[in-house]
Amino acid sequence: MLTPEPQAHFPMNRTVRRDRILLLAMALLATPMSAGDGVSATSDKPAPSSDRVGFPKEYATRFTVLRTFDRGERQVVTVYGNAEAAQVKGMTNLPFPDGSILVMETADAVRDSNGVRRKGPDGRVEKETVVGLHVMRRGPDFGVAYGTNRAGPWEFVEYRPDGSYLTPPAKSAACAECHVKAGRDRDYVYRGPLPPVAP
Ligand code: HEC
Repeated sequence: MLTPEPQAHFPMNRTVRRDRILLLAMALLATPMSAGDGVSATSDKPAPSSDRVGFPKEYATRFTVLRTFDRGERQVVTVYGNAEAAQVKGMTNLPFPDGSILVMETADAVRDSNGVRRKGPDGRVEKETVVGLHVMRRGPDFGVAYGTNRAGPWEFVEYRPDGSYLTPPAKSAACAECHVKAGRDRDYVYRGPLPPVAP
């Protein structure tokens, strides 16, 4: 791993850290102390109470890269699929087989001393720190717990790179609610290996 030039990165990192602290504080405020205690359940939209997605520990080495793109000036996004998901090369292969896992990784970009994002030999912007992993997994009878927001047989979780939660299953209704808009024709997947959503 390449070491970034610390001085040039300081202002950037400080912003990121502040964002993270804010996110953490928000997560702590929003998360009930014990799962299933019903304290916040009344105001929450229905969502799974247990994690059937699972932290994909070795995604970076074992999964196939399906798509990469740069998000603004700061971040690099990489979408990975496990072997099941990687079988799908386009719309004609849909739906995804059960057991498919899609991981959308967001990473901060490495910057050189001029603040310009540094590119590797492959022409891609180099990644510094992985910030979070959006993960969706398909399975038989998955997604029922989302009720009317169900996005097909998928369940959603957002992890930090250490496997802790950014969006635990019980708070993941918003994920399903938005992915349902990708539509059944796309198996509720926006891009991954698929062409862009038609305008
Ligand atoms: C407001 C809408 C919205 C919400 C909320 C949302 N997503 Fe997405 N998601 C998208 C869009 C749009 C893309 C496609 C990004 C791209 O490739 O350009 C995407 C991509 C993904 C992908 C890659 C596969 C695909 O569909 O292209 C995964 C995995 C994913 N999201 C998981 C999640 C998880 C987990 C959550 C909740 C923590 C979540 N999403 C919340 C809109 C949303």
